[in-house]
Amino acid sequence: MAKEAACSLDPALNHSMKESVRLYVREEGRHARELSKLLSAMGEPVIRKHRFDRWFRWSRRFFGLRPKMAVIAAAEVVGSTFYWVVATRVPCSHVAEVARAIGGDEDRHLEFQRYYFKRVLLMAAPIVRPMLALVLGTWFLVVLLGAIASVSIGHRKLFLALDVRPLQFAFLCVQRLRRLSTRPASIDSTGAELVT
Ligand SMILES: [Fe+2]
Repeated sequence: MAKEAACSLDPALNHSMKESVRLYVREEGRHARELSKLLSAMGEPVIRKHRFDRWFRWSRRFFGLRPKMAVIAAAEVVGSTFYWVVATRVPCSHVAEVARAIGGDEDRHLEFQRYYFKRVLLMAAPIVRPMLALVLGTWFLVVLLGAIASVSIGHRKLFLALDVRPLQFAFLCVQRLRRLSTRPASIDSTGAELVT
């Protein structure tokens, strides 16, 4: 995705935004390595593939960069909620610490996504803006529902062990999306990080 963003003609992606996407993708790779190390340290196998992976990959590749970013944003909402649930409910402090750190990064990723989509809409011609918002928003919600369902089902044993029902997880995702999308921005209109 970093390569696609680097070559993209999307006006919402200026040079620093493209660099941010590159770092964003790199950070996701770091998360995967950290989780892999954590599982290995616990003597647990690392799952390389999940049955929902193909669906997720297909939905990312279907339409191009903007819908792909929306798919990743939906995954961030579910990921942020998932790590928050693990961080607050798992009894092992080491696992909780890793989940808290990764969850914090996911929240920042969502902040970046919010900033990107704000730019996408701002840079669209006013006449197409409502339709673009409707299409991207609908796509985001469809993928979000699919991601919530797949994580709720795929990790049901973990959620049951943590005393979280699938519907409760879905509700927590919606609650987290609302909280993260309404909190004050930490990136200003130039893309610079605000000191809060
Ligand atoms: Fe992320």
